[in-house]
Amino acid sequence: MSTLVVVGTQWGDEGKGKVVHYLSQEADLIVRYQGGNNAGHTIIFENKPFVLHLIPSGVLFPGKKCLITNGVVIDPQGLYDEAVLLRSKGLDVKGRFFVSELAHLILPYHRYLDILREQGKIRIGTTRRGIGPSYADKVTRLGIRVVDYLDEKVFLDLLERNLKEKAPLLKQIVPVAKVRKETLDAYPKLRKFLKDFATNTSLILDEAIRKGDNVLFESAQGTMLDLDFGTYPYVTSSNPIAGGVCAGAGVGPSKINTILGVVKAYTTRVGEGPFPTELKDDLGEHLRQRGQEFGATTGRPRRCGWFDAVVLRHSARINGLDGLILTKLDCLEGIKSLKICTAYSYKGKRLEEFPASRQVQAECVPIYEEMPGFDESVKGITRFSKLPLNAQRYIKCLEKLVGTPIKLISLGRKREEIISMDGKTCLWF
Ligand code: IMO
Ligand code: MG
Repeated sequence: MSTLVVVGTQWGDEGKGKVVHYLSQEADLIVRYQGGNNAGHTIIFENKPFVLHLIPSGVLFPGKKCLITNGVVIDPQGLYDEAVLLRSKGLDVKGRFFVSELAHLILPYHRYLDILREQGKIRIGTTRRGIGPSYADKVTRLGIRVVDYLDEKVFLDLLERNLKEKAPLLKQIVPVAKVRKETLDAYPKLRKFLKDFATNTSLILDEAIRKGDNVLFESAQGTMLDLDFGTYPYVTSSNPIAGGVCAGAGVGPSKINTILGVVKAYTTRVGEGPFPTELKDDLGEHLRQRGQEFGATTGRPRRCGWFDAVVLRHSARINGLDGLILTKLDCLEGIKSLKICTAYSYKGKRLEEFPASRQVQAECVPIYEEMPGFDESVKGITRFSKLPLNAQRYIKCLEKLVGTPIKLISLGRKREEIISMDGKTCLWF
């Protein structure tokens, strides 16, 4: 049995898309367990960048099975569009892609409510995909699940009940009749489409684990966007952390073997919220351009900053990380001096751990360790010992500060631009 969880350790956009695509080569089954089409995973496939929001990138490998399990919120239209996009590239997902009947749906009213809420007092800077409102309905027990959607009578009843309940809010930005029409016009097509994929995914998962298949669980977003352990309220509405796998996919904790965290060689964040090591100067702009730090889902410029070891220690602990996968090291080339945040200072006090208070998170100041950068190109390097010495020092310093071994280093967007630290050809540790 081999089950591997891959999580984001920062605020998302760590390069999980490439890493998961790389690790999927050895997987039999690939599972998305939380989030929705707020995620944006860019992968390079046949030399072209490709963004998937919902369907695991593993589908690009013929013969691999992929699941979207109960912890995910599914926008049927978004899923349909993605399946059409894949088909236009000659990839048919039928027969090897399945969706949990228990997953909750994102319907047009959720998207309107997301937009409305973003006009309110606390602006989160969401992706406006209706993620938060859909999870909110799930928790308040108003949600509509895939299984409900497939039963026309049940769905129509629930839709009317929900539209009635949400009408006072919806009316502020859109006529309720328009929302109803939008939902019902698309219904016959989307229902027929979803029917082919809906099933009990926990059974498929259980069977794969019993058989000893390699199962890869991929998170969307990152630990600092986790509803419980992130920078609340500037977070997403699910649990991207490794612990989210069990509730989000219907698998017991005893069945999880290895947990790896993807970490960018610097830090980025999209949307609002605290970001202690943010660079608001030319260097931040340089990282944005060099790393092409623009949202894969919304196109928004990402905020950029130095590596934050406080965040990483928090992530390593919350997720129980066995190892790290470092990405985008190449984007640091040519920066004279590199800074790493080792702790924060707040009102003269040194903080070693990520603070809980939103005010402290917003006002704490990073304490940095500084080291010389590297000018030499890292392109094409496949062994750690061949990296520029200062790059090696930087990596070793990160590893020591976080206290978790680095297993893989990614040096570019292509799948083969990667260094395996122990030179293992088997990618499953
Ligand atoms: P991947 O999978 C980066 C952020 C949004 C916003 C907050 C809440 O590509 O790493 P939501 O729409 O989820 O309610 O927005 O979370 N966010 C992401 N940031 N990468 C993502 O996914 C994100 N998904 C959500 O910008 O701040
Ligand atoms: Mg993203």
